[in-house]
Parts: sequence; structure tokens; C-alpha cells
Amino acid sequence: MLGNNHPVGIFDSGVGGLTVVKAFLEQLPQEDLIYFGDTAHVPYGNKSEAQLMQYAHDIMDYFMERKVKAVLVACGTHSSVTLPRIQAEYPIPMVGMVRAAARAACRITSGKRVGVLATQATVNSHAYRKAIQDIMPDCHVFEAACPLFVPLVEAGILTGEEPIAAAKQYLEPLLREDIDTLVLGCTHYPFLQDILTDLIGEVTLLDPAIEAVKEMKAILTGHDLLNQAAHQSRAEFLVSGDNTSFYRVGTKLLGKVINEVKSVTLTHC
Ligand code: DGL
Repeated sequence: MLGNNHPVGIFDSGVGGLTVVKAFLEQLPQEDLIYFGDTAHVPYGNKSEAQLMQYAHDIMDYFMERKVKAVLVACGTHSSVTLPRIQAEYPIPMVGMVRAAARAACRITSGKRVGVLATQATVNSHAYRKAIQDIMPDCHVFEAACPLFVPLVEAGILTGEEPIAAAKQYLEPLLREDIDTLVLGCTHYPFLQDILTDLIGEVTLLDPAIEAVKEMKAILTGHDLLNQAAHQSRAEFLVSGDNTSFYRVGTKLLGKVINEVKSVTLTHC
């Protein structure tokens, strides 16, 4: 097991996982982090399980080289498709989005009718539905894939006609099912929170980031891995593809936390 002063690794396909970094910095301000945005492969939602496994291995191998003490999978797709396997393969604590979302959804739902917006790969896995029904077997779960959202967010298009039209289209079948809670099952989607909130009326919107970071904090505490040093936390941002758009969109959300974005090449990237 690595020491307390090692960083936590956090990854996603692009800027989406920064919505989780925001919660991480709020709850764990003393921790250092290395964020990896796999922008050479964004979007993840249309990739096969074999491709996603390859990306997960490359990123995890890199994180092991960098001696991270734990990994936060800030990606609904990897949390749904690859996490159960990579968790068994690497000897460090790992936390994903799905269990955290399921716990929070079951706490919040008033009528046991939960909608989940996620990527196509995540919806195909039904991971959120299974996790919610593991806790609350009589809960009705309705999942919808939103393939236009990630390219819009990566391009920094967070308002206006295009995302509103896409959101209406994706929400319509879920709202028809009379859902009372809507889970943002992809970490890119909180960037579109304002648009979604306007369209869902009384339905409660759930971003699982806070709950996922809470779980990470509990795990670090349980393994006696919390960073005790009184220092300003260091955050390093790396991407496998273009770093300029990541910087532009990322700084919209996190501001000065992102000083610099470096491009790195992993084995198969
Ligand atoms: N933000 C990721 C997720 O939570 C990946 C989305 C994508 O690249 O398609 O699923």
C-alpha cells in the first residue's frame, strides 16, 4: 500500500470527470490529484467493451507508474463496463460512479420511479438499473442514452438551441414514465444542469459526484491514507489528445485550478 502523500488518480474521456474533481476539491482539499482526460478516445459511449478495457488498462498502468494511492473512476461508462474487472486486477482502492448514484437515488426517490440519462455503452450494460434494484428491488428504473450530449459539452456548447433540443428529445420518454428522480449517469451531463433543470419540473436532479467523493473519502480514511500534510493541494491535468479545448472548457468549470494541461501518450493511445 502506498503512502498518504501520494496523489489520487482520476480519469474520464474528457472534461466530464472535472464535475467530479470539483466535488473532490471541496471534500478533500488536502489531497493531490492527477486527472487523466482520454481525449484521444472521446466519446467513450460508442466504444465496445474490448476497446474500453484497453483504455482502462492503459490508464491504470500509467497511474500505477505514477504511484497513485487510489483511483476515482469519474466516468459513468467505465464505472458501468470496466470497473468490476479492473478493480480485481489492480491492488489499490478504486471508487466509481454507479454504486454511489444508486445509493443516493434510493435515498431520494419518493415514488420509486427513477430515470437515468447516460451514454449508450452505459445504458447497454444496465449497470445503474441493476445497482438501484439491488438496493430497492421494487424501484422502476428507466434509462435513456444521450449520444449528442458529450460532443456538445466537449465543444463547450452548454446553452442554446442544440443542447435544448437534444435534452427535450432524451427526456420526453422518461418524463412520460412519471419519474420523480433523474440520475445524471454520465459525468459530462452536470455541465448541462441548467438546461435539464428547466425541463424537468418537479423531478429531482441527481449528480452522483458528491456521493462518489464521499465514498472515496471513507475509503481513504478506512485505509489510513488521508493526506495529513498541511499544504496546498497539487492538481495535475493530462490528456491523451488535444489539450487546448480541454483547457478552454475545463477552466469554464474549475477556473484557476487548471493552470496547465499536458498531452501524454500512453501505450495504445
Ligand atoms: N463522462 C463519461 C461518462 O460518464 C464518458 C462519456 C463519453 O465519453 O461518451 O460516461
